[in-house]
Amino acid sequence: MNGVVRRGALIVLEGCDRCGKSTQARKLVDTLVAGGTPAELWRFPERSSSIGQLIGSYLEKKSEVEDHAIHLLFSANRWESVPRMRKLLQDGTTVVVDRYAYSGVAFTAAKEGFDIEWCKQPDRGLPEPDLVLYLTIGAEDAAKRADFGGERYEQTDFQKRVADMYGLLREDRWETLDASQSIKDLHDQIAKLTRDIITRVENKPINKLWM
Ligand code: TMP
Ligand code: MG
Repeated sequence: MNGVVRRGALIVLEGCDRCGKSTQARKLVDTLVAGGTPAELWRFPERSSSIGQLIGSYLEKKSEVEDHAIHLLFSANRWESVPRMRKLLQDGTTVVVDRYAYSGVAFTAAKEGFDIEWCKQPDRGLPEPDLVLYLTIGAEDAAKRADFGGERYEQTDFQKRVADMYGLLREDRWETLDASQSIKDLHDQIAKLTRDIITRVENKPINKLWM
């Protein structure tokens, strides 16, 4: 023991609505913690803060917010969590996040009149994920899963455009995984990729996204 704290990894799950991200994120954290790796489950939007409540009301269609303004609120909702996220990572906790800046870009860029570069700008400089697990599922399959259609954006044609936008955001740190396989097989794949990344980045600095 030399007293050096190895940092935790920032693991992001992305994908269209109802692709199973939340289930996999939860299972991943459970497995890490059970194996003795400190880990915390996060999600964006984080709906409990004041900004998060504005977002929640918009998603539940209880209020209308102009498209640029809601984009900036989603980003602000990430930025307000950064100090806590950095501290956790630096103290050695792996943070598993259900959606991140890629959702921010893909969902806004799927709307009329937005370009990807404009959409990325507010999130530039966030802690850079070490691994992005991109879960893919056909939009029709997603629509068959429970609860689809309740919230804003949960429409098959919009989700198809979101998937196209995700396609343009792919980076080296992305792993694209087929979410139509069994929960267990997908989990095993995700757990292995995550364990590898945790060891690979433990002595590396936390970089800034898109900079
Ligand atoms: P959730 O169902 O994972 O809670 O996400 C809520 C919705 O918000 C989902 O349709 C994706 C969308 N979203 C954005 O439009 N921008 C963002 O930055 C994030 C994190 C989510
Ligand atoms: Mg949802």
